Amino acid sequence: MEKEYDFLVLGSGIAGLSFAIKAADLGSVAVVTKKSKVESNTNYAQGGIAAVTDNDDTFESHIQDTLKSGAGLCKEDVVRFVVTEGPERIRELVEWGVNFTKMENSGPDTYDLGREGGHSRRRVLHAEDLTGREIERALIEKTASKKNITIFENFFAIDLICRSKLTGEKGATDRCLGAYVFDADKDVVHTFRAKFIMLTTGGSGKVYLITTNPDIATGDGVAMAYRAGAEIANMGFIQFHPTCLYHPDAKSFLISEAVRGEGAELRLKDGSTFMEKYHSMKSLAPRDVVAQAIDTELKKSGDEYVLLDITHRDTAFLMKRFPYIYNRCLEFGIDMAVDPIPVVPAAHYQCGGVLVNPFGQTTIEGLFASGEVACTGLHGANRLASNSLLEAPVFSHRAFLKAQELLPTVDTDSITIPPWDPKGATESDESIVVSNNWEEIRMCMWNYVGIVRSNKRLERAKRRIDMIAGEIEEYYRNFTITPNLLELRNIATVAGVIIECSCLRKESRGLHYNLDYPDRDDINWVRDTVVKKDSNGLDHKPIHIKGRDGPLTNNM
Ligand code: SIN
Repeated sequence: MEKEYDFLVLGSGIAGLSFAIKAADLGSVAVVTKKSKVESNTNYAQGGIAAVTDNDDTFESHIQDTLKSGAGLCKEDVVRFVVTEGPERIRELVEWGVNFTKMENSGPDTYDLGREGGHSRRRVLHAEDLTGREIERALIEKTASKKNITIFENFFAIDLICRSKLTGEKGATDRCLGAYVFDADKDVVHTFRAKFIMLTTGGSGKVYLITTNPDIATGDGVAMAYRAGAEIANMGFIQFHPTCLYHPDAKSFLISEAVRGEGAELRLKDGSTFMEKYHSMKSLAPRDVVAQAIDTELKKSGDEYVLLDITHRDTAFLMKRFPYIYNRCLEFGIDMAVDPIPVVPAAHYQCGGVLVNPFGQTTIEGLFASGEVACTGLHGANRLASNSLLEAPVFSHRAFLKAQELLPTVDTDSITIPPWDPKGATESDESIVVSNNWEEIRMCMWNYVGIVRSNKRLERAKRRIDMIAGEIEEYYRNFTITPNLLELRNIATVAGVIIECSCLRKESRGLHYNLDYPDRDDINWVRDTVVKKDSNGLDHKPIHIKGRDGPLTNNM
């Protein structure tokens, strides 16, 4: 059942499809997606794409806002090329059919720009409040026009296939040759072989109990890359979005930061404002500041939520600018033109990920990563709002250029890949193990590895997650696979990696706040926390951490 392509793209959001569209001009492309092709994190992005498109805006201003948000940990060269190459990628998206909202009564290319937290001015291109859905629509249409692209829906990538596992070789740089992929409709596992593998599987919000992310966000890419031996960086920096709707029937519903960009203010239940105590930008401060402020206020008051108040705007404006959010809130009995919206912080974005260089290359040859799954150095310790939809096409384009350069040199055909070995697995009669462990991991991460951490909480989380991960691995080896089991295995792996990165960082910075090290330490900690699976095959053992100044010893 071996399927052979020049390019294997895992994931079907903006990073994956923009890469596939270009790669199709070089060779055959398989796009593998675990649900339907539109079901990606991109599809749910409300806010938009931050880019310099207005004559009054400057690259330097966008660069400085990004660096400030990143709390001293962004890689400045990366920030500079993402910002300056951004407008070209935007033009490309428009050429491929993306309709960004334009200003009324103005020139044909004058976009209506939104504002979000941490931006010093309006800069965010959007398509009403469903930007991701519009991008996904256009990219899927463009993909359909490319004969060289085959999309496999309901195909779940289980693990990457790497040369070292097949040949037993140690020491040399490893090479990725493809992936084992589970066809969930037919219950069979296929071998996908490719010259280049592009990981674009999005983030891992489902590791946490409360998240703005869709159900698919189970960290599959980070988990697979980690198991394959790639270096993973900065996974302690989990961004909590300050404003997820608080309502018993609303599952993961985000109230876009663009609402605050249009003047909404955060208030306590008694109507008083509080953000002025925390930052000069008040409700539009960078996200780490706002989420931590809300968390502090909720702990102080014992309330379950704070309020987001945009009642100074009239219905006509809100229905036009935020039609999706307005109507969804109405479904829950909240008229945002009249009632302040109850909100809470929720896990939203993984700023770390699979470590890549400026061309999206991971530490395993032949394996690229782009989008939320990758750690490029753009976001540092806290992503600036709406920078991620820009980062993805910039890095996918750069990865495409690198793959084009390397393609003639790739010769992996002589390596035989054995078919998937189910190792005598039998049907499980205890699926309760899967659902129980799902809940336990997500609760544990929410309680102990959330917005505010401490050494004790992290140690507690580590003990529990290690134990659960062991139990899941045993279950995975003994019973036949299902998508639920594969996702559970992945969130357990990713939870372990988040904990390891959080334990390594002995300071507070950006999205990582540890009560035992409350201050930022610019002398010792302007460095990434990088973990890699132990070469003996043990999980959750960081072998080193390193920064721009070279390796540090692991002093945990
Ligand atoms: C939002 O609309 O608030 C989310 C945008 C983002 O996370 O960049």
